[in-house]
Amino acid sequence: MAKKVLVSGGAGYIGSHVTVELIEAGYDVVVADNLSNCDMTGFEGVKKITGREEIPFYQIDCCDYASVDMLFTEHKIDAVIHFAAFKAVGESVAEPLMYYRNNLVSFLNILEVAKNHGGCNVLFSSSATVYGEAEVLPVTEQTPRLPSTSPYGNTKQMCEDILRDVVFATSSSDAVINGIALRYFNPIGAHPSALIGELPRGVPNNLVPFITQTAIGKRECLSIFGNDYPTEDGTCLRDYIDVVDLAKAHVAAVSRMVEGRMKKGYEIFNVGTGRPVSVYELVSAFEKVNNLRLNYRFVDRRPGDVMAIWADTKLANEELGWKAERTVEETLASAWAWEKYLAGSGNN
Ligand code: UD1
Repeated sequence: MAKKVLVSGGAGYIGSHVTVELIEAGYDVVVADNLSNCDMTGFEGVKKITGREEIPFYQIDCCDYASVDMLFTEHKIDAVIHFAAFKAVGESVAEPLMYYRNNLVSFLNILEVAKNHGGCNVLFSSSATVYGEAEVLPVTEQTPRLPSTSPYGNTKQMCEDILRDVVFATSSSDAVINGIALRYFNPIGAHPSALIGELPRGVPNNLVPFITQTAIGKRECLSIFGNDYPTEDGTCLRDYIDVVDLAKAHVAAVSRMVEGRMKKGYEIFNVGTGRPVSVYELVSAFEKVNNLRLNYRFVDRRPGDVMAIWADTKLANEELGWKAERTVEETLASAWAWEKYLAGSGNN
């Protein structure tokens, strides 16, 4: 019988891509989302891509213990992938209580319910933000985490630690929790079908949605934050990973958990490409591959930005048997195809 995966936050950008890849790999999926930061576009897209009309969807808030408990009562869950969280750095600085409550309580509920239902495999969606401004690049999973500069980043570090502690405490019990934290670098792009992609509410914080919205005319001009960094072209370096590649890393990690191939009860993997790309290079590649000119200007640095970060991907490549495959050009073409799809579908 197919293993069943609960995807919390499964209607969102990364969650929807992961749901597609899980289904295509033969998993049964249950999606839970409170739709606080997205609508049903992503989930409808998942159904279209996979041709599955019957994927169970629950509009619930994981901060409500009884709702999470109901999911585990109605379904025999073999693994949970927990995406349901807020993710805007600036907003978290302004609204720390909202961030701590939402991101911590929802994860605590998932873990507690999983434990009370006899244990489970839990994959936590973490971030390269835990490394801060690392001194040595690329970062490995052993690179020390640095104190976070935002409540958002704090919640990622705290949830990693909570998972580690719960794994340890349950390891010799009859309700074992196994855990994997995937530290994402910069997920970008969209599914090749252009039926799902990133759909930020309001003005995008992240680079690629700002680029595509500028290209389509929704925004006047892209501001490139800083061209005076000590990098080759003066702009920041990041490790941009295609969202479908990222989604496949989740399938590899879930399979490792449900097939009992973990080497420790709690494991951490960097999910990136290992390739640093500057903001300027990314903008130029977007223009070139999509054959257009983007309106942009250089402005001051954005407070809180790190100059450079990219992943050492050896551990994920070797242990998960996974590797990022799409080129930046392919990914940027997919991001543009998605923006154009949105413009045509009246969803913009
Ligand atoms: C950001 C968060 C990170 C979070 C991730 C989630 C910060 C400091 N970091 O990563 O904690 O996990 O989003 O998606 O907010 N840029 C521009 N113009 C723009 C937008 C971005 O030049 O309009 C530049 C940034 O300065 C940065 C790069 O593009 O160098 C990528 O920015 P972004 O997409 O926001 O991701 P991060 O800042 O790396």
